[in-house]
Amino acid sequence: MRSLSLSTRLTATFVVITAVCFILVGWLLYRAAEQRIYAQDETNLVLSARHLRRFVAELDSIADLKAHQDRMVVSVLGDPSNALRIVDASGQIIADHNPSGFPLEVQAAVPTGQRVLATMLSSWHDDRGLPIRGLSVMGQLRDGTHVTITVARSLADREALLRRYRRDMALRLLAGLIAAIVLSHLLVRRALRPLRSMATDAATIHAQSLHKRLTVGNAPAELHALSGALNDMLDRLEGGFARVWQFTVDLAHDLRTPIGNLRGTNEVALAHPRTSAEYQALLGSNIEECDRVSRTIESVLFLARADNPQFALQRTSLDVGTELERLAEYFEGLASEAGVNIQVQGRATVHADRDLFRRAVGNLLSNALRYTPTGDTITLRAEQTDAAVMIAVENPGDGIPAEHLEKLFDRFYRVDRSRNDSANSTGLGLSIVKSVMELHGGRVSAESQLQGMTRFTLWFPVRQAELH
Ligand SMILES: Nc1ncnc2c1ncn2[C@@H]1O[C@H](COP(=O)(O)OP(=O)(O)OP(=O)(O)O)[C@@H](O)[C@H]1O
Ligand SMILES: [Mg+2]
Repeated sequence: MRSLSLSTRLTATFVVITAVCFILVGWLLYRAAEQRIYAQDETNLVLSARHLRRFVAELDSIADLKAHQDRMVVSVLGDPSNALRIVDASGQIIADHNPSGFPLEVQAAVPTGQRVLATMLSSWHDDRGLPIRGLSVMGQLRDGTHVTITVARSLADREALLRRYRRDMALRLLAGLIAAIVLSHLLVRRALRPLRSMATDAATIHAQSLHKRLTVGNAPAELHALSGALNDMLDRLEGGFARVWQFTVDLAHDLRTPIGNLRGTNEVALAHPRTSAEYQALLGSNIEECDRVSRTIESVLFLARADNPQFALQRTSLDVGTELERLAEYFEGLASEAGVNIQVQGRATVHADRDLFRRAVGNLLSNALRYTPTGDTITLRAEQTDAAVMIAVENPGDGIPAEHLEKLFDRFYRVDRSRNDSANSTGLGLSIVKSVMELHGGRVSAESQLQGMTRFTLWFPVRQAELH
């Protein structure tokens, strides 16, 4: 089922809230009006009963009462909804006024001495079910005769009034709700306009148009934050795409060179008959080129695997001193060939993946070997602090100009391309070091002085290591 749009949800919420408020306020007003009307009628009935009792008390006899009955009716009850009946002790009707003709029930009469109160009123209904309120009181004439006075009021007109009031309120409520639906829909649509324009902008952004950004204009602050976050995400994606594109270009270039070399040397060799020594030399150089291609491919695969968030490290506790000694030994052959010494200093323990650790330090050492002048010494130094284990690979040499230091860890970056485009260089060694350090939650840094010392430092965070 398609979920409801935001504007429909907001409109519905607004309308429900408005309806609840309307109904609540309308109901309270209705109740207040109803109570006021009924309270007024009750007061009138009580006052009439009191007045009639006093009036009766001033009359001498039943005959006198009969003579004054018109005065009583006219002066006390001017409303056709009111009714009055006076009966004597034997139950004979002395005065009867009931223009509406509703049934009059004689109630248990309030005794002569007792004050008449609204709580003494009774209710009953006529044959149509319409309510009637009334009460009976005892009155005493001067000659001591008792009479029962009943006053009542039909509430039929009040019911009709309240019914009209309810119907008017319902119609106004309906009109109010229709207005609320229309207005809230328009307002919500207007408020969400910037969101729609963001969606339109976003729909035009593809891999080929990643430079485009979402425009915000005078949108509300919340949308500013959202579009800001989305634009930041586009910045990162654009950077990522640019790096992938650059990587592809560099990879193609790096594979084209050795394959071009292979093809060129083979073509030249095939142009004339060669001696077997020449063929041997050719095959030797072919193997070197093939090695370079396979090293590039192996490095690219490693970097791709390391980029995967699922990459699992096999961490163990490593004695850094021992590991550095082993690496120095491993590179001993190449070092003595180049007339370079390797020395190891310091001790530390690191929680890291053994193979990756060796690969990172090995890459730094192989670089150092390539750039250390004959007779000089490479230092592998380990240092342990509370926060991190640092492993530095230092070598004297020409050094690396400062403007290159930042980019050294980019894939395929070489300071001097012409010099390094040899069979030995893929330009991926330092990017592998960087990937290894990121996998360990650490980092790598480079410092270099021209005609001085070049130092690459690996930082393994201690706390991070303990957590894993
Ligand atoms: N110790 C160093 N002294 C001077 N320059 C260095 C040193 N280490 C690295 N570089 C420079 O950094 C560049 C990048 O090194 P990186 O290890 O990534 O690639 P590479 O050594 O050229 O190739 P590979 O590591 O695959 O053999 C090198 O080409 C070199 O110019
Ligand atoms: Mg290298």
